[in-house]
Amino acid sequence: MSKRQSKRTSHGYQSSEDEVEQFLDEVFTFPKDNDPRVRVTLTFAQSLDSKIAGANGKQLTLSCKESMHMTHMMRARHDTILVGIGTALNDNPQLNIRLLTPKDGETAPVPVILDTDLRFSLDSKLAINFRSGKGERPILVTKKKVKGSEEPEWDARKRALEEAGLLVIEVPLEHGRLSIKRLLLELQDMGVKSLMVEGGASVISSFIGSGLVDRLVVTVCPTLVGDEGVAYNVGTVPSLEYMRSQSVGRDTVMAWRGWRLGFR
Ligand SMILES: NC(=O)c1ccc[n+]([C@@H]2O[C@H](COP(=O)([O-])OP(=O)(O)OC[C@H]3O[C@@H](n4cnc5c(N)ncnc54)[C@H](OP(=O)(O)O)[C@@H]3O)[C@@H](O)[C@H]2O)c1
Repeated sequence: MSKRQSKRTSHGYQSSEDEVEQFLDEVFTFPKDNDPRVRVTLTFAQSLDSKIAGANGKQLTLSCKESMHMTHMMRARHDTILVGIGTALNDNPQLNIRLLTPKDGETAPVPVILDTDLRFSLDSKLAINFRSGKGERPILVTKKKVKGSEEPEWDARKRALEEAGLLVIEVPLEHGRLSIKRLLLELQDMGVKSLMVEGGASVISSFIGSGLVDRLVVTVCPTLVGDEGVAYNVGTVPSLEYMRSQSVGRDTVMAWRGWRLGFR
């Protein structure tokens, strides 16, 4: 059987790695242009009842091993990967590509954490991996302080993070949250071409209707979590165009194209 053919398994037809690669090639093909904007992919795994975590934010392994592998393939296609501080503290993720045997020139994306008050822990896996040379240098995104405001604890945390070698960048708040538009412009100025946003619930809610997402890739897993689980909010229905779906192991991965609104 060729690598291209699907394989029959106990839970249906399983896509080969080549088919998943082809799916990703199609989803991540962009028209050739000189657009300097950071391409944004919003991606997450959800249960059949649209939950991304269990009761009280308990981290759940929703994705099957094949779609987890696909997530690492997607990570390898992006320069940077973003989570909120909620996920960084709750899940202690590594955000790397450890499930892949990296091809020539393939590297893990640089982690970016939305962290208004610099609550990030230097004992986290992201910080430890960086210190031991096994991970990329995390970028912490924090608030731009209001002129003249005194916040000695925030200053001390910023100093400690910088002394540990992490990059701290400041963006203004917008409606009490870090401005995503301003963050994208900062990343663009740093030469970043692509950003993969992996969650959690608040971050998904912020991005989904923002008009700033180029691709939405959702892995739907055949599991029910129940009403106690963590969900995201869609808010105003976003401007998205369905692209295609792919079975990956027992999961179904769906992709949409987003139309950028109100940027610049
Ligand atoms: N299924 C999946 O694919 C998946 C993926 C990732 C996470 N998760 C789950 O998601 C849950 C965590 O979700 P969460 O909502 O608690 O945390 P989160 O979305 O990871 O982080 C939210 C925090 O980020 C900070 N933030 C700063 N600017 C923001 C902005 N513009 N928009 C949104 N957030 C901003 C805020 O904290 P500050 O005010 O302190 O800055 C906010 O409370 C966990 O249970 C985790 O397991 C699931």
